[in-house]
Amino acid sequence: MHNKNILSTAAQNALPSGVRRMFELAKKYDDSINLTLGEPGFTAPDHIIEAGIKGLKDKKTKYTPNAGIKELRDAIAYKLEKENGIKCDPDKNLIVTAGATQALMLSMVTLVNPGDEVIIQGPNWPDYRGQIDMVNAKTVYAKVDEKNDFKMTADVIEPLITDKTKLIIINSPSNPTGGVLDYADLIKIAELVKKYKIFIISDEPYEKLVYDGFEQKSLASIPGIEEYVLTINSFSKTFAMTGFRVGYICANEKITENLIKLHENMIASVPEPMQLAAVEAIYNGEKDVREMVAYYDRNRKLIVEGLNRINGFSCLCPKGAFYVFPNITGFGMRSRETAEYILEKTHVVTSPGDAFGPDGEGYIRICYASKYEDIKEALSRMEKAFGTK
Ligand SMILES: Cc1ncc(COP(=O)(O)O)c(C=O)c1O
Repeated sequence: MHNKNILSTAAQNALPSGVRRMFELAKKYDDSINLTLGEPGFTAPDHIIEAGIKGLKDKKTKYTPNAGIKELRDAIAYKLEKENGIKCDPDKNLIVTAGATQALMLSMVTLVNPGDEVIIQGPNWPDYRGQIDMVNAKTVYAKVDEKNDFKMTADVIEPLITDKTKLIIINSPSNPTGGVLDYADLIKIAELVKKYKIFIISDEPYEKLVYDGFEQKSLASIPGIEEYVLTINSFSKTFAMTGFRVGYICANEKITENLIKLHENMIASVPEPMQLAAVEAIYNGEKDVREMVAYYDRNRKLIVEGLNRINGFSCLCPKGAFYVFPNITGFGMRSRETAEYILEKTHVVTSPGDAFGPDGEGYIRICYASKYEDIKEALSRMEKAFGTK
């Protein structure tokens, strides 16, 4: 048999990760400080780990229903109503997924056809683009502006809508910018959804990581658009449970039925002990979240204040997530060169903005979810290397 194309088009077109590249380059330094990883420096709280262990000891070792265990769907429905103002039927509108990553992939496979257009924010979490490529659709970037606090507003989205637009993804708080959309912004986006009748994913894994009294709202809580919104969330960032791989989608009944069908083909179900740990997180994890957010907030203030003192950087103070996205045009180099230069001079590992799509050029991303002391040391090295303003 003769087959020239060993790899699929998706595999051939997959872009190498700009963040991983920095990891590789950092390997030559023993004292490097890594501020690239998009995950909490904390490990999951003990009582959540215990709930997972109990699940294993109780021999919860089998497949679960495709939609997830009833106990977790009930807990998610309770949480969505109480915290997000979203009413849903746990038997008709919810599916438990392997994190938000699989929730997004599953949604794309369920809704998007080859040639369709999907509007996402630019700069963006790179996996959106990778997943859109995997369903052979076209990525359309809604470029956000630092001058408007990196907000992906209705004004930015509307001119990009065409007959081929199948899906819009919003992400507040945002990776990589830390930007947030307030309620007035969401209402305008809801009006667009009503006007054009387009599906929209609200990807909300950072919903609890907000500061300065910012009140995060969910798009699906706005009446009249329930049919079109898929709310995606995850336990990863909120509860420091990245390795548990638990997330979920809340959508209309018809979409949910189809998500469940395709989920069977994709991963069948999420491990039950991890689902039980997620139940524990919902009912008893609030205090842990408060403590972690207070820690991130202290780091956030330290890094923003520190970077704005150092030559070359100009940094907005983001209201959400655990990232800063400083403007580095003051270095007079492209983002990739700047990240490499920072690494070489200070052994501090950051992510070049272009790793987050073409609109990330001119910036770098720094994750401040690591140890306070590491951020302090990173700033002190940069201050020494580049001087202060
Ligand atoms: C915007 C955004 N959405 C979704 C995810 C996926 O998270 P998980 O699959 O761990 O739930 C991430 C992870 O970095 C993210 O930044």
